[in-house]
Amino acid sequence: MSDNNATGRTRLDKLPEWAALGKHREQLADTHLRDLFAAQPDRGTRYTARVGDLHLDYSKHLVTDETLVLLRDLAKATGVAELRDAMFRGEKINTTEDRAVLHVALRAPRDAVIEVDGENVVPGVHEVLDKMADFSERVRSGAWTGHTGRPIKNIVNIGIGGSDLGPAMAYEVLKTFARRDLTVRFVSNVDGADLYESVRDLDAAETLFIIASKTFTTVETITNATSARDWLLGELGAGQEAVAKHFVALSTNAEKVSDFGIDTANMFEFWDWVGGRYSYDSAIGLSLMIAIGPDAFREMLDGFHTVDEHFRTAPPESNVPLLLGLLGIWYGSFFDAQSHAVLPYSHYLSKFTAYLQQLEMESNGKSVGRDGKPVEWQTGPVVWGTPGTNGQHAYYQLIHQGTKVIPADFIGFARPSGELPAGLAAQHDLLMANFFAQTQALAFGKTPDEVRAEGVAEELVPHKTFRGNHPTSTVLAPDLTPSVLGQLVALYEHKVFVQGAVWNIDSFDQWGVELGKVLAKNIEPVLTGEKSAEGLDSSTVALVAEYREMRGR
Ligand code: F6P
Repeated sequence: MSDNNATGRTRLDKLPEWAALGKHREQLADTHLRDLFAAQPDRGTRYTARVGDLHLDYSKHLVTDETLVLLRDLAKATGVAELRDAMFRGEKINTTEDRAVLHVALRAPRDAVIEVDGENVVPGVHEVLDKMADFSERVRSGAWTGHTGRPIKNIVNIGIGGSDLGPAMAYEVLKTFARRDLTVRFVSNVDGADLYESVRDLDAAETLFIIASKTFTTVETITNATSARDWLLGELGAGQEAVAKHFVALSTNAEKVSDFGIDTANMFEFWDWVGGRYSYDSAIGLSLMIAIGPDAFREMLDGFHTVDEHFRTAPPESNVPLLLGLLGIWYGSFFDAQSHAVLPYSHYLSKFTAYLQQLEMESNGKSVGRDGKPVEWQTGPVVWGTPGTNGQHAYYQLIHQGTKVIPADFIGFARPSGELPAGLAAQHDLLMANFFAQTQALAFGKTPDEVRAEGVAEELVPHKTFRGNHPTSTVLAPDLTPSVLGQLVALYEHKVFVQGAVWNIDSFDQWGVELGKVLAKNIEPVLTGEKSAEGLDSSTVALVAEYREMRGR
């Protein structure tokens, strides 16, 4: 295979910078974090960085000054900064879909200029934000009423993937900033139980459905939206004319929105240069904006923008998304890490890792390069995790004493939510003591001698020994505010960007989701008996037969 790809770039694994990292890894061999800390007494302050309100400690990584230089050399050799600048310039870096990648324009200030095909897209972004703000205020104040004249009390977002995970996650994170008298729910699954459980206790007269779909063709969303419309009209005993007061759409596809029966005056637009998994700060965030209000939503956008500017301008030595992206590559390719844990120590971040799963795994779960050739190196890891301290009593055992290398991000906050009563707020120190203790235990472990010194019987010493040397990042912020949420999300967005750039993959397409959709379409009529199973593989034929028998068909 040639050392060069179609874009004229030398294959990643043929770069001298890649080889240098391989050699460096061999030299590091089994160097333990205990040794690194002993050799560098200032390590705990030396390997820290800041972006906006986020303090990053990366001292507990298996790196030296030399590693960091070599990783930055790799970023230089793979043109990360050039691709980043092309993204900010609005160039069509999503090559397989021939699209610009401009989620950064969604949070650009009003006077910014970002052009796609010679047109400044920023005024359009603010026009939609203003329309969203106006609508949100009308719903929040009760000025927007349903078909029977009653104000809206319930918001139901119907969408899936990027049209669900972002707003659902952010609503959970920012609950304490939300109007508590509004009920906000998110329906995504085509399993009818999702919609059923979400509306069964709601009064249709007070319910607004927000149909969120970039394409407005996603079968789950259109099916649920149609059922929601049937439910609403049935409950109200009304005709189509009631739809306008209870349904709005968030989409790039005005034609399909109109076909569905939603007045395009009630459509909030976004653009093909916003990827679904990068979209909750666009019109897709309408449910969130209604819940937390336009001012808090704009604060969140400012938080995103702070990190965008940092990513665009900070030198490589202090560029936090660049650093986090490179560390992930270090572990994936040189330590054979297959997964990456994100472990937030905040109950409000309960959906954060699920959100990141789409962001990271749909973006970087690729095995073909931009040049159309198979990649010969590891790409995106499996991303997983749930909030601490719960995970400590479930799966942390494997992280501490299992056989796998699992780099982990620990995310915590100095202050508890201002809404907590004093007694509950006092529990915060206990939460955070666990937060700090875990990265300490993971890094330094417990040696056999330390175990013996506690008088442990010799046969139990191996069982009670902690190898340590597990790499972690610690991200600490003062409070969990709308701005800090925006900062955190932008941090991960740009980390994903860096990794895709180094791996030379298109982080902005998602062809891997298509095959299953097509096959499901073929199988559905077989399940109902409209079509024979002929031509399907023997496993699917047998499974479908079992299914039909169990259903009494
Ligand atoms: O099938 C995957 C996907 O296309 C995601 O990328 C996207 O976020 C999701 O489906 C929903 O798509 P849409 O917003 O067009 O309904």
